[in-house]
Amino acid sequence: MNKDGSDASRPRSAKATRTGAAAKPGAVGQPGVATGPDAPAGRHAVAGRRMPSPKKCRALLEQYGLPAGIIDHSELVTEIAGFLAQNVAEHGSAIDVPRTVAGAFLHDIGKTPKAETDSRLQGLNHAEASARIVVWEGYPDLAPVVLRHMAGDVLDPSTAPVTLEEKIVHYADKVATRTFISLDDRFSDLCRRYPKYCPIFEQALPLVKKMEEEVLAAAGLSFQQLRQRFGYASRST
Ligand SMILES: [Fe+2]
Repeated sequence: MNKDGSDASRPRSAKATRTGAAAKPGAVGQPGVATGPDAPAGRHAVAGRRMPSPKKCRALLEQYGLPAGIIDHSELVTEIAGFLAQNVAEHGSAIDVPRTVAGAFLHDIGKTPKAETDSRLQGLNHAEASARIVVWEGYPDLAPVVLRHMAGDVLDPSTAPVTLEEKIVHYADKVATRTFISLDDRFSDLCRRYPKYCPIFEQALPLVKKMEEEVLAAAGLSFQQLRQRFGYASRST
């Protein structure tokens, strides 16, 4: 809903599908699995799952007419999510890195201008539209990952991120505008821009902070390390 890729909370019209991901030989962090931007799509298939490569994800965002600002935001979310997922894998937790990366790249594809005219997307919030689009593009395993990233989703157990992949995409989206940003600054910014939803953001922030602790612990990282990796721009100054 926002041109810079940030999120407000809106009611959902559909229930999410919950799926888990398990580490398998040849999957996350294992030799022989390419996850870079130029890796061929076939190398991203894990245990029969069809996953788009980062290059294909970018092509899809362009095909669906996403503005440059949202594509830039999506690329940063992807970088952060990929870094976290790789570290989670190396730290010993089960996670599907290609699924996390592709979900991060496509989480905002539902902000496509086509949503205004495509009857199949009418009445959906942008996360629901993202989930519908990845399904009809042939990537149904990405639907739960893109579906659970809106700021208020953590407040409802039926919409809150469940798997590490979903939590990483949700968290990475919250610490990325077009630059890396802290949760406090991000939620302050959301409140300034969407005062109507500020009570929801204020309720969500402590839960997202808990998610941050969980994700960083699983990755064996501190917030300072994440900030050093991606830089820091305070929006409150
Ligand atoms: Fe986003």
